[in-house]
Amino acid sequence: MSRLIIVSNRVPPPRERANLAGGLAVALREALAGRDALWFGWSGSNHAPEAPARVTRIGRLGFATIDLPPVDFAGYYRGFSNGMLWPLLHHRMGLAEFRREDLAAYRRVNETFAAALTPLLRPGDLVWVHDYHLIPLGAGLRRRGFAGRIGFFLHVPFPPRAIFGALPQGEGLVADLGAYDVIGVQTREDVANLDEVLAAVGLTVRAGCYPIGIDPEAFAAEARAAAAGPEGERLRSSLGDRALILGVDRLDYSKGIPHRFRGFAQLLKRFPEHRNRVTLLQVAPVSRGDVAQYRALRRELDELVGRINGEHAEFDWVPLRYLTQTVPRATLAGFQRIASIGLVTPLRDGMNLVAKEFVAAQDPDHPGALVLSRFAGAAAALDGAILVNPHDPDETAEALHIALTMPEAERRARWERMWQEVRRHTAASWARSFLASLDVAAARAA
Ligand code: G6P
Repeated sequence: MSRLIIVSNRVPPPRERANLAGGLAVALREALAGRDALWFGWSGSNHAPEAPARVTRIGRLGFATIDLPPVDFAGYYRGFSNGMLWPLLHHRMGLAEFRREDLAAYRRVNETFAAALTPLLRPGDLVWVHDYHLIPLGAGLRRRGFAGRIGFFLHVPFPPRAIFGALPQGEGLVADLGAYDVIGVQTREDVANLDEVLAAVGLTVRAGCYPIGIDPEAFAAEARAAAAGPEGERLRSSLGDRALILGVDRLDYSKGIPHRFRGFAQLLKRFPEHRNRVTLLQVAPVSRGDVAQYRALRRELDELVGRINGEHAEFDWVPLRYLTQTVPRATLAGFQRIASIGLVTPLRDGMNLVAKEFVAAQDPDHPGALVLSRFAGAAAALDGAILVNPHDPDETAEALHIALTMPEAERRARWERMWQEVRRHTAASWARSFLASLDVAAARAA
């Protein structure tokens, strides 16, 4: 079996390496097991520039990381990746800020990655590059002579050509995609959008749809255990007999958190029977706090939460609980099991694994209901969810009302359909199918 090289901006921090916890690591667990593999990326530090990668190993899996100089890092990560590409790819050109120096830093960092990775590569390696931070990496490896198979997976959405076309020097980035043998995205809509952009510059490489999933059985077991644990107990006793509505997101403007809160406020206004009968718990750990648009969002939410609670709270009830701290993954799994309603309303999202985790966390005998944005990749698959357009707070309020009053038999039938889907398209099957495509690409090229 070929050695697998994973490349992503972030690599699992040392404490998470042995059990491969955390987002992408969970998804790659099976693909990395039982073969030689190397995970390459940024060390998390911005100190020593231009040093070779540091490599550590756990069994057959190596971790190779490099530091990045502070100036390059700022332009690459804060500037071009998260100040320009992130909003653009999430269809939010109005929030994007383009600076030529940021694009230059983005390209420099991708060159630094390519230069540090090249000496670690062997001819038969399978290289799998992840996400928008590293679009030009494949081309950098090709220029340095690597002729093996390279795949690229974009975890976030790809917008229509009319939006992507607003990116200055965007053709250059698209041309770089030509270095990859396989390009994967989350949904058919993303495939169609990306294919159009690729075709416009005459590239023959085509995108494929590989919807990412979770490890459903493991998540279900984690949720069961955590719901019965001390934090689960504390949450339940704090709720009394009120129903829990739960939101879990990074504090990101793509997640539609203010819209969601306005929808919840509409529920309390228009359906007063739920007053003092429900609690919305929103867990939103601060993310990218050094990017201006994220700081603005945080201020907006601080104000909005205060206003909604001020307006609707009663002396023995606070309708909205809002946490910007990080809550451990397992604890969250328990909270999802306790929740009657999962509220997942991004304005745009590649997949949104919280939606799938909510399904996996439910008690099969008394499952909760999922209110899901039609603009999350997950909406294409989870047809048991109550779909909403998150831009309309009244629609969110109505969906919450439907969910809160849904007969148990219907909830169970809807959940059953979603559970089948979550078990069919898992993290493991996602990685397997992407890597199978990469293998076939090699057979054709040989
Ligand atoms: C999204 C992106 C990932 C990114 C993660 C956390 O899921 O698709 O590439 O790693 O957000 O964001 P951060 O900026 O903290 O890495």
